[in-house]
Parts: sequence; structure tokens; C-alpha cells
Amino acid sequence: MTNSNVPRILLIGSDGQVGWELRRSLATVGQVIAASLTGQEGPAVDLSQPDSVHQLFDATAPDVVVNAAAYTAVDRAETEPELALAINGTAVAIMAERAAARGIPVVHYSTDFVFSGDTDHPYREDDEPQPLNVYGQTKLAGERALLDSDAPALIFRTAWVYGVRGNNFLLTMRRLFREQSELRVVNDQFGTPTWSRLLAEVTAQILYRVVQGELDMARVQGLYHVTSAGATSWLSFAEAIRDLSDADCRLLPIASADYQAPARRPAYSVLDTSRFRTTFGLTLPDWRHSLALCLADLR
Ligand SMILES: NC(=O)c1ccc[n+]([C@@H]2O[C@H](COP(=O)([O-])OP(=O)(O)OC[C@H]3O[C@@H](n4cnc5c(N)ncnc54)[C@H](OP(=O)(O)O)[C@@H]3O)[C@@H](O)[C@H]2O)c1
Repeated sequence: MTNSNVPRILLIGSDGQVGWELRRSLATVGQVIAASLTGQEGPAVDLSQPDSVHQLFDATAPDVVVNAAAYTAVDRAETEPELALAINGTAVAIMAERAAARGIPVVHYSTDFVFSGDTDHPYREDDEPQPLNVYGQTKLAGERALLDSDAPALIFRTAWVYGVRGNNFLLTMRRLFREQSELRVVNDQFGTPTWSRLLAEVTAQILYRVVQGELDMARVQGLYHVTSAGATSWLSFAEAIRDLSDADCRLLPIASADYQAPARRPAYSVLDTSRFRTTFGLTLPDWRHSLALCLADLR
């Protein structure tokens, strides 16, 4: 750790759903350097440009790195595979190289979309990934770049992220409930809605223990599945949002095949979080519980 005892935490992607929550949660762990594409709250970085990533590390000399930035436009990635790979794969490989050279911990997020969804049991970390779309392929490349490096890294695979800002299903549904009296929602894809704040809080708790020396990165580094508990379909998730928001909109089931999105999505991508809960001794609340808390925040 540099000069003082306060670790310098380089947060990359501080404007995103998870990044924005991390800005607040990580403030109890150390000095947060909030890097983003726009550079509004700290240094600017464009992950599609390798030089920009190197410059960020040179300029900030971090003690810890948390990467919440990603190319997350799942459908658009089908027509922009090089850009998605540059941001989700190549840039992460550079972070891995720079973190390995400094011997500093890295936290990175990945996705349930690395799996094909061709199963009916919650996926474990050692299940074989088989992405159905470009986004999933590029996120898998990022995971592998970190795992194949000497960087002490925690990779948190999560799913169906929503929160009080950004592009997400919760905010889209609430807008549509105001605009329409009837909506069709996919009911043949199953997963676990996960509040961005939950991800930020567990990340901060774990990093606090790491920087305090209570948790040995050499022992815990690796891949973990982190979502809320439970599972649901997009339709049931929409129903829960509607009911908890006192909205009045008729929801009708639609099959994924009828929705015609450019990117294929896994039909079943529930993640088994037992490795995470056992290793870190943390409880992950039921998705409905987190949803209610998030909605209370929106009131
Ligand atoms: N959202 C989900 O449902 C979901 C599910 C599973 C896993 N994840 C993973 O969770 C992590 C956080 O996702 P999120 O939902 O918080 O995503 P998000 O809201 O889309 O945030 C991603 C951030 O990355 C930034 N970014 C995009 N391109 C960039 C570039 N070239 N250089 C620098 N920054 C760039 C975006 O900036 P702009 O907004 O300015 O483009 C945005 O602030 C990601 O690793 C994602 O893959 C998300």
C-alpha cells in the first residue's frame, strides 16, 4: 500500500449501475478513484483503447482495482463484436497484466450469459461455459484473461442486474406501466434478479477484509457466482415489480421465440451461489426482498 494506510481503489466504470453503487460502498474501504468513459468524477478512460487503460494505471498507481465497466449492450454486440471484445476481453487482459505486475487485488464482474441455459439445475462455477451470444463470448474472454494471469483476482459472475439508475428491466417496466395498459413479457427464461447495491455491498465487505489483512487473496482468489437467492421468469419479475409499485397493467406471457431479439439468451441461467456464501460467510437475500428495498428507494 502507498504512503498512507488508506488504500487507493481504482474503480473503473463508476457511471454504470454497479459502478455507481460501488462509488458509495467502497468509500468505507479506501480512497475511491472513480474512472469512467466521460471522466466526470475522476479520470477518463476508454477501455476500447489499450493505451487509455495503460495510461489510467500509470496515472493512478492503485492499490486495488474494481472493474465495473463493460460493453453490456447484449443485442448490439451481435453487430459490434470487435468493440465488445476490446472492452470486455482485451481491456481486462491489460488490467490483469498491470495488476499482476503490481501484485494488487482485482475485482471483476461477469455474467450468467457465459452459459447456454440448456439445463435445469443452478450452474456451478465449474460447469462448462457455452455462450449463446457475442456478449457472453466476450465476457468469457475477460474471465479467462484474469484467471490465466498472475493477478490476485475475484471474478463475480452475476445476473439480471437492476437498480435505481441506468438501463435495466425494473426501470423499463415502471416506465411501460405508466404508458401502457397491457404488456407482453417473456415467460420461458429463468434467472435471478440481482440489485446492483447488493453487489456493491458484498464487494465492499470482502475488500474491506482483504485490505485489513483478514482475508488472504491467495486463498480466496477465483471465480464466484453472486446473485440474490431464488429464481423467477421475466414475467414473474414484472408481476412482482407491478404489484410492489401499485401499478395497474395487464401482463401477458410471450415466448422468447416470439420476441425476436438479435442475440440468443439462455433459457435457464440460475447460478448456484454456495461457493460464494461458504467462502465469505455472507448471506444473499431472496430476490423479492431486495426488490422491495430497491423500490422503497425509488419512492
Ligand atoms: N446488467 C446486467 O443485467 C448484468 C448481468 C450480468 C452481469 N453483468 C455485469 O456486471 C457488470 C456491471 O454491469 P452494469 O449492469 O453496471 O453495466 P452498465 O450499467 O451498462 O455499466 C457499464 C459501464 O461501462 C461503461 N463503459 C462502456 N464502454 C466503455 C468504454 N469503452 N470505456 C469505459 N467505460 C465504458 C459504461 O459507460 P456508458 O454508459 O457511458 O457507455 C457504463 O458506465 C458488467 O461486468 C456486466 O457485464 C451485468
